[in-house]
Order: sequence, then structure tokens, then C-alpha cells
Amino acid sequence: MPPSSTPYHVAIVMDGNGRWASKRFLPRIAGHKQGVDSLKRCACACDARGIKVLTVFAFSSENWQRPQEEVSGLMDLFALALGREVPQLKLDGVQLRFIGERQGLSNRVLKGIEQAEAATAANHKLVLNVCFNYGGRWDIVQAAARVAAQGLEMTEQNLSQAMALAHVPDPDLVIRTGGEQRISNFLLWQSAYSEFFFSDKLWPDFDEAALDQAIESYALRERRFGKVPGQGDAAASPVGVH
Ligand code: IPE
Ligand code: IPE
Ligand code: MG
Repeated sequence: MPPSSTPYHVAIVMDGNGRWASKRFLPRIAGHKQGVDSLKRCACACDARGIKVLTVFAFSSENWQRPQEEVSGLMDLFALALGREVPQLKLDGVQLRFIGERQGLSNRVLKGIEQAEAATAANHKLVLNVCFNYGGRWDIVQAAARVAAQGLEMTEQNLSQAMALAHVPDPDLVIRTGGEQRISNFLLWQSAYSEFFFSDKLWPDFDEAALDQAIESYALRERRFGKVPGQGDAAASPVGVH
């Protein structure tokens, strides 16, 4: 991929919904609802800026440990949002993909996922990967298991091709909102050479101006991929891109 000031693939840890709600004396689920709107806005804004792939962290393998009320609220909201938003996403040319462990999800959620993927499979304007019941460690383990089951050699390339995001290049830019500076088991394998941007904005407040700030910061970075400054085109070949 040629070097570009616009990232091809942006990945986002959408953090801060709960705090957004607490600040307003609202239940946490109100923050998650607002988070869905923020995601719609953000997907639109990414598309308008020429970003081709957006990957978002919506529910981690560790988030099951939250109070039962919040977990079931999130599952309901996810199923509802799918039913409500897919027709418009389909018209907008967005291809939806769901990344994560499907075992353990309810039939209602699974049905929503399958229908959303089928309805948008032919779209190519923007790929929106929604990481749901996802963990970076789970991804590495499931990829290793697949490579082993196929009797293939355990190489970086074979493992990359078995990872859950093998249909897209590795993320150029990983954004985390909400002020925390950690990866929280997001794209551990795929973010080996991503640029990182941490925003203090809570996810529901992450607007177009905040996205532009992240993209502007990205455009100023020199990605070296282990090489030395000024090695030119050679420096623009990311590892792990397939
Ligand atoms: C991120 O927001 C959404 C999910 C993890 C589902 P949080 O719910 O983690 O919000 P904070 O970090 O508690 O504010
Ligand atoms: C990461 O946020 C997961 C998602 C945004 C879905 P968390 O709120 O779960 O992360 P920690 O617990 O602060 O590390
Ligand atoms: Mg959080």
C-alpha cells in the first residue's frame, strides 16, 4: 500500500460510555445508547475522509464480567441497533463484519449478526468490522488452532491468514477514546506497527473534529517499520499486510 496521509484502516477502542452517562446522573446503558449514535456518525465521517476500513471494539471477552444488568442491556442494545441500522448501512455501501467468538452469544444476537452480514456482503464502500465478544488473545489462539488443524506450518504468514481480520490489512491508526492509555486485549497481533492516538474525549463525545485531530496527528508520523529515517518507499511496507 502506498504511504498516505489518510489511514486506510482505522481501529477504535470506543471507551467512556459509562462515564459519559454517570456525569449526567444517567444509567450506564444511556451512555451505550449514545455510543451507537457516535459510531454511526464516526463511520460516516470515516467514509467521507476516504478511510476504507473501520474496526471498532464494541464488547470484549472480559466485558462479561460486568454486572449482569449491564451485560444484558448491552446485548439487547446490540440486537436492537442491528435491526434498526442495517437497512441504512446497506444503502450507504457499508459492509458489516462481526469479529469475535460466536459461541456463547444468544440466538437473537447471532441471527442479527448473520442477517446484517448477509445483507451488506456485496457492499465495498467502507468495511465496518465490529469486534464483539472479541479478545486479542482469543484471536491468536483461534488462529493457531486453525493453522494446526489444517496441518500448516506455524509461520507468521499462515497465522496472519487465520486471524479474524485476515480480510483487511493491519490497522494504520488505533484510536482509544476515554483517556485510558492501554490496549485492553484489542488487536494484539494486528497492531504490531500501528500508530496510536489517545483521546480524552469520552466515546459519545468523539465528533468529527476529534477524528480530524487523530488523522492530523497520524499524518505527521513517520512510520519506519524497523528501518532508519528516510529510507523512503522501503519504509512504507508494513509488516503483516497480506
Ligand atoms: C466502552 O465504554 C463500551 C464497552 C466496554 C461496552 P465503557 O462502558 O467501558 O465506559 P467507561 O469506561 O466505564 O466510562
Ligand atoms: C475496552 O474497554 C473494551 C471496549 C471498548 C469494548 P474497557 O472499558 O472494557 O477496558 P478497561 O477495563 O478499562 O481496560
Ligand atoms: Mg471502559
